[in-house]
Amino acid sequence: MSALSPVNAKGPVPRHVAIVMDGNGRWAKKRFMPRFFGHKAGVDALVKTVLSCADRGIEHLTVFAFSSENWKRPTEEVSGLMGLVLVAVAKYLTKLADRGVRIRIVGDRSQVSDKLRAAWEHAESITRDNTRITLSVAFNYGGRWDVVQACRQAIRDGVATDDLDEATLNRYMALSYAPDPDLFIRTGGEVRMSNFLLWQAAYSELVFTECLWPEFDDAALDAVLAEYARRDRRFGGVKDAPPAQALRQA
Ligand code: FPP
Repeated sequence: MSALSPVNAKGPVPRHVAIVMDGNGRWAKKRFMPRFFGHKAGVDALVKTVLSCADRGIEHLTVFAFSSENWKRPTEEVSGLMGLVLVAVAKYLTKLADRGVRIRIVGDRSQVSDKLRAAWEHAESITRDNTRITLSVAFNYGGRWDVVQACRQAIRDGVATDDLDEATLNRYMALSYAPDPDLFIRTGGEVRMSNFLLWQAAYSELVFTECLWPEFDDAALDAVLAEYARRDRRFGGVKDAPPAQALRQA
């Protein structure tokens, strides 16, 4: 476990949690309701989860709200999701801002409407100085897109080929302001990453749960955090053995 991880009574707490919020459609289907109903319930689950994460000392929560691939969904669902974001910002922004949540949006903004872009900018601007927890909403985001946009920006900045190492590229990645996620959760029972945070999740602990996203509550969060606390993180090294680098220098 990283020496930087805070520890509470139940074990080490991740600094950064990333979530693929999957299962909204199935949750709605089980209730004979349209998929949109599931996404709406998904927003409520997200608001509760960010506050619960803050209560537990988690510093960053990053969620996958709309992937670069989600444009392949029916037009009605895509426009429903876009509209839902506007409604969610209007309904919850003040509450989140008042509770110390800083909001950041990561992803390609060039393809979203001016109205949505303005709502994002407003949410980011009024929460900019909050420090309790940072909620990063990945919207029109893909892990491969992120690597490509970072390389392009580095090239534009004139970074020399030999200067382009991992730390330098990381400065151009969408989440450059956050530590890498310690814990990567996917709800909904599927066991894949779906192009989320491919670069940043290199050493994340992966936890997959059957729980459908709208049902993800404090008990589900605590179960996942307990699983995380049981993991033995070595980052490619060996527990309790000095790294070869140190031996070479001795
Ligand atoms: C996956 O469930 C979920 C999504 C593609 C959208 C997630 C979005 C939200 C929870 C709303 C986010 C809103 C804001 C304001 C950030 P699915 O539709 O793939 O479910 P299924 O696998 O059961 O079909």
